[in-house]
Amino acid sequence: MEIIKVKNYDELSRISADIVGKVIKEKPNCVLGLATGSSPVGMYQNLVSKCKKGEISFENVTSVNLDEYINLPITDKNSYRCFMNDNLFDHVNIDKKKTFVPDGNSLDTAKTCREYDAKIKDLGGIDLQVLGIGDNGHIGFNEPSDHFTLGTHVVNLTKTTIEANARFFDDISSVPTQAITMGMGGIMGAKKVLLIINTPRKNGIANKALFGDITPQVPASILQLHKDVVVVMCEE
Ligand code: F6R
Repeated sequence: MEIIKVKNYDELSRISADIVGKVIKEKPNCVLGLATGSSPVGMYQNLVSKCKKGEISFENVTSVNLDEYINLPITDKNSYRCFMNDNLFDHVNIDKKKTFVPDGNSLDTAKTCREYDAKIKDLGGIDLQVLGIGDNGHIGFNEPSDHFTLGTHVVNLTKTTIEANARFFDDISSVPTQAITMGMGGIMGAKKVLLIINTPRKNGIANKALFGDITPQVPASILQLHKDVVVVMCEE
């Protein structure tokens, strides 16, 4: 595991975008596993600017997102599909048909989950998985639990996660209580993982995850078992 400590969020975003950009340059048809939330916003801005300058191209890139809320229309600004369009896809030369986000409005979520895992497998797995971390140590929406779940699955969001995500919604009662998330099999199957710790507030949970016991109670701790993890963390 490589840990890169940076001064602030701007530096974190630049370095994270350089890591993603390098993967794209080395393998133009790579599969990127992408995350939403505050952590990668600056990284996406840097990637958009690299693409506009012609330094990288998303023409042959495929993306698979970690998660999506259940029963939130994809036209809702808080849906993760909308987030990805707004923050990245609408501003780079990616083919949207090659961008995959779990279908949170599916009437058959079990089938959706199975098909999402099959899609990742068909694509040959993920080359680089970008992750943020929740205050409770979740990655994707793999919440603290008594076991790790390998496959894509439906999850009941914890109170901590609902409260953390309420900042994006008009009021807390509008925050979806369930989501579909890629499981640990998809994440750990990625060839490389980039974990973005976007604020020193999370350094406590990050240290627990990276150096403490490996336990499903701290879901990100499973990353200790991955061979190629780069962590970028902010000092201020
Ligand atoms: C987002 C995701 C989540 C977030 C985490 C941190 O797709 O899977 O695990 O990365 O909740 O969220 P932020 O970055 O908003 O603090």
